[in-house]
Amino acid sequence: MQKNSKSILVTGCAGFIGFHLTKRLLDEGFYVIGIDNMNDYYDTSLKYDRLKMIMKHPRFQLSKAQLRTWNYWKIFSISTILILWSI
Ligand SMILES: NC(=O)c1ccc[n+]([C@@H]2O[C@H](COP(=O)([O-])OP(=O)(O)OC[C@H]3O[C@@H](n4cnc5c(N)ncnc54)[C@H](O)[C@@H]3O)[C@@H](O)[C@H]2O)c1
Repeated sequence: MQKNSKSILVTGCAGFIGFHLTKRLLDEGFYVIGIDNMNDYYDTSLKYDRLKMIMKHPRFQLSKAQLRTWNYWKIFSISTILILWSI
C-alpha cells in the first residue's frame, strides 16, 4: 500500500465507529492503516465481519495489535491519527 499525506491511522477500526469511519475515509480516497486488538468486550464475530468488508479494499491495511505496543508510525508516513478505542 502506498503511504503519503493522505494516509490516516484509525485505531479501533473493527469497532462500531472505527469501521464506519474507515469505510468513509476509503470512499473519500484516503489510505487507511487500521489497528485493533480484537478484544472480546462484545462478540468478536461482529468485528471479524466488519473487517472482512474493509480488508478487500486496496487502500486499507490492517494491523492486529495492542495500541500501546504498536509503533509503526516510526515506519509509515501518517498524516492523521484517529483514536477510537475505549479502556
Ligand atoms: N458508539 C457510540 O455511540 C459512542 C458514543 C460516544 C462515545 N463513544 C466512544 O467512542 C469510542 C469507540 O466506540 P465504539 O462504539 O466504536 O466502540 P467499540 O468497542 O465498538 O470499538 C472499539 C474498538 O477498539 C478496539 N480496542 C480496544 N482497546 C484496544 C487497544 N488497546 N488496542 C487496539 N485496539 C483496541 C476494540 O477491539 C474495538 O474493536 C469509545 O471510546 C466509546 O466510548 C462511542
